[in-house]
Amino acid sequence: MQIVSSIGAMQRLARKWQRAGTRTGFVPTMGYLHAGHLSLAKRARQAVGKNGKVVVSIYVNPTQFGPKEDLAKYPRDLKRDLKLLRGLKVDVVFTQSDAEMYSRWGETPSSPKIKTAASLGSTESRPTGFSTFVVEGKVATVVAKLFNIVLPEVAVFGQKDFQQAAVIKRMVADLNFPVKIVIAPTLRERDGLAMSSRNKYLDLEQRAQAVILFHALQAAQAAVKEKSASAARMKADLKEFITAAPLARLDYAEFFDPETLEPIQLVKRGTQMALAVFFGKTRLIDNAQL
Ligand code: PAJ
Repeated sequence: MQIVSSIGAMQRLARKWQRAGTRTGFVPTMGYLHAGHLSLAKRARQAVGKNGKVVVSIYVNPTQFGPKEDLAKYPRDLKRDLKLLRGLKVDVVFTQSDAEMYSRWGETPSSPKIKTAASLGSTESRPTGFSTFVVEGKVATVVAKLFNIVLPEVAVFGQKDFQQAAVIKRMVADLNFPVKIVIAPTLRERDGLAMSSRNKYLDLEQRAQAVILFHALQAAQAAVKEKSASAARMKADLKEFITAAPLARLDYAEFFDPETLEPIQLVKRGTQMALAVFFGKTRLIDNAQL
């Protein structure tokens, strides 16, 4: 496994592979890897075959953190990450410094279409005053940069970050990136909590109650199994449901069409549901197609 830590070196390698007709599968991450991340790397391998190359990037992107979210405290353990990736026979781990990623940086304007796709979850969802659009727009920017550095044929993202995946798909379509986007299912802990690097922030009590997100998705699923219900009704019921976990504070529950991503008024089987819940300062997200 090769560790590449400069943009130029990564691009030269990617070019070389491209000239040789080697397929490249890519998984961007912010590190502190868990089984969910690793499942994406496995999926990338599956996509490019044993003769292809799998690249995993590890970069805690500073621009996507809100002012109240502590960038410095984001968990990091590169040594452990590298060990896990070696076990998976990943070909290259790309790590880079802020100095190089954002030197001579001026923001590129985002596509208004990206804004449409990203406006889900509404602006009040970030207590920081950052709109979801701003945050997802910054994710789109860093991913666009990474695509131009790694030159992948396939890139794998997790369904867990549903809005992020939607924005990336939209960006790839809008800007004609020659990259196939694969969305992989959410890996969960034994009790159903979606795996996340942020779960590390939870204390024991919060961790025990965090499963409420998964249970809320299941409850919503059960509720619409037989008959549809209004989104307003579902939201009110969910707010009530979440009180079973006294440390939880509902940020939002949203319902929308899984294809168009338009918010919908009548929730039924097949509706996409997204949920964000605070435990103290930690904001957990989860989603499911009902
Ligand atoms: P990060 O949170 O490290 O996640 C990297 C990838 O892992 C994302 O595609 C995310 O959806 C996926 N992932 C996270 N938890 C998962 C789970 N439980 N099961 C399956 N996949 C999971 O998302 C980011 O980093 C950043 O925004 C990034 C795309 C790297 C841009 O900075």
